[in-house]
Amino acid sequence: MTTEQRYTKEKVTHIRHWVEKKLFSISTTRAAEFKFKPGQFARLGLATTTGEEPSIWRGFSMVNPVDSKELEFYAVVVPDGEFSPRLADLKVGDDIYIDKNPIGFLTLDNFPNGGKSLWLLATGTGLSAYLSIIHDPKTWSLFDKVILCHGVRYINELSYQEQIQTWQQQWGERFVYLPLPTRESHLHYPQHRLTTLIETGKLAELAGTELDPSQACVMLCGNPDMLADGRKILGDLGFATGRRGNIGNLAVEKYW
Ligand SMILES: Cc1cc2nc3c(=O)[nH]c(=O)nc-3n(C[C@H](O)[C@H](O)[C@H](O)COP(=O)(O)OP(=O)(O)OC[C@H]3O[C@@H](n4cnc5c(N)ncnc54)[C@H](O)[C@@H]3O)c2cc1C
Ligand SMILES: NC(=O)c1ccc[n+]([C@@H]2O[C@H](COP(=O)([O-])OP(=O)(O)OC[C@H]3O[C@@H](n4cnc5c(N)ncnc54)[C@H](OP(=O)(O)O)[C@@H]3O)[C@@H](O)[C@H]2O)c1
Repeated sequence: MTTEQRYTKEKVTHIRHWVEKKLFSISTTRAAEFKFKPGQFARLGLATTTGEEPSIWRGFSMVNPVDSKELEFYAVVVPDGEFSPRLADLKVGDDIYIDKNPIGFLTLDNFPNGGKSLWLLATGTGLSAYLSIIHDPKTWSLFDKVILCHGVRYINELSYQEQIQTWQQQWGERFVYLPLPTRESHLHYPQHRLTTLIETGKLAELAGTELDPSQACVMLCGNPDMLADGRKILGDLGFATGRRGNIGNLAVEKYW
């Protein structure tokens, strides 16, 4: 008796390197049956030798809209990492394996009633999950305003600028984008950590929107220290994850 495989074999269709040897996006073919909710992630697998079964797996959030023909992932190269340097070295036409079951809870299911504003707070590749969420029309029917804050070390790590500009044109004042490079100064970008900006009230000022727990919902994704600090600061303001059937106004996802 054969057991059905848990994954499908796909092909790499496109790779874009945003910052050489650090940040890249990779697109793949997509199995017709692969369905996901915006904000979820897929387990990607690589084989050690061509033709062998995949032996190493890692999770990556989908960046693309739910109905696109292909899947897209945004990733960082972790030097000495087992998986990400190999992923970054793939070429168009190479094999990649994708687990049939997408997973993850950083989705709009956390906020079924929506609210005035949705704050998508990311550092680094934490941006990935938010891109598929912003693509989703449901996000815009649940929330009046979407605020995307992206903390990075350097300005050239602010990826997906063309897509972000398209959303700015499409949604006007309903979409606020705050680029936050921490290790490089810029005339128009504040050089501060996200957590500092929340704590001082500056983030709300920059967004032109109150960070009010009775009207706002917040998602946090990125560096685990940022998640820990952010949870504490937001908790003090009145934000909490949902539990025991109570709907929350905070959702957090850990990448490592
Ligand atoms: C739910 C989920 C979703 C994820 N989505 C993404 C994604 O969209 N894009 C992405 O690049 N990674 C994502 N990751 C992380 C990814 O699965 C791998 O951990 C990452 O590619 C490193 O694997 P590695 O084998 O090269 O390094 P490993 O040998 O596994 O080294 C792990 C170390 O690398 C560092 N690290 C891991 N991931 C990151 C990261 N994203 N940014 C900065 N440092 C990191 C940490 O210090 C960690 O301890 C996700 C992880 C989870 C659990
Ligand atoms: N391949 C390469 O050449 C190369 C080079 C560099 C890094 N890397 C890899 O990339 C990974 C780092 O990626 P990254 O730069 O995207 O992630 P990162 O180190 O998490 O930095 C991203 C942003 O998060 C901020 N941040 C960190 N800790 C925080 C906290 N506690 N609270 C609030 N903000 C916080 C950083 O601010 P600060 O600037 O203030 O820390 C920065 O703005 C490393 O794990 C390394 O493996 C690769």
